[in-house]
Amino acid sequence: MKSITGGAIFLSCLLAALPALGQQADQRNGRALSERYCASCHLIGADQPGPATDGVPTFRAMANDPAMNETRLKGFMKLPHPLMPDLSLTRREIDDIAAYIAGMKAR
Ligand code: HEC
Repeated sequence: MKSITGGAIFLSCLLAALPALGQQADQRNGRALSERYCASCHLIGADQPGPATDGVPTFRAMANDPAMNETRLKGFMKLPHPLMPDLSLTRREIDDIAAYIAGMKAR
């Protein structure tokens, strides 16, 4: 009887923790998405091999721009910008990329 209760408590804890895990933005996925969708124009990281387009803000510069924050980054990604194709990113992808960019902020 005791073990059944213990199992039930464990299970409900697990179920309670799962949605929280699912919502956590994934910076590594953000990096992979940035390489796929953004690196043709933006310098997305210091170790990026190819040159990005001149004059396009780098992700590091965005992260350290006091006028920029994660909310604004996300808003920006929902709108197509000049020269930039409409990528139709999902909310999840936008969250991951924003977390990746914000993670480059110098501390
Ligand atoms: C085809 C080229 C191109 C691609 C691909 C592209 N961008 Fe951009 N992006 C630009 C240009 C050019 C600017 C600067 C002009 C502007 O602000 O609209 C810019 C500006 C931005 C800004 C605003 C920066 C600031 O400080 O105002 C953000 C945020 C941004 N891009 C995010 C992204 C993300 C995230 C991706 C990938 C999902 C991406 N861009 C893909 C060309 C591109």
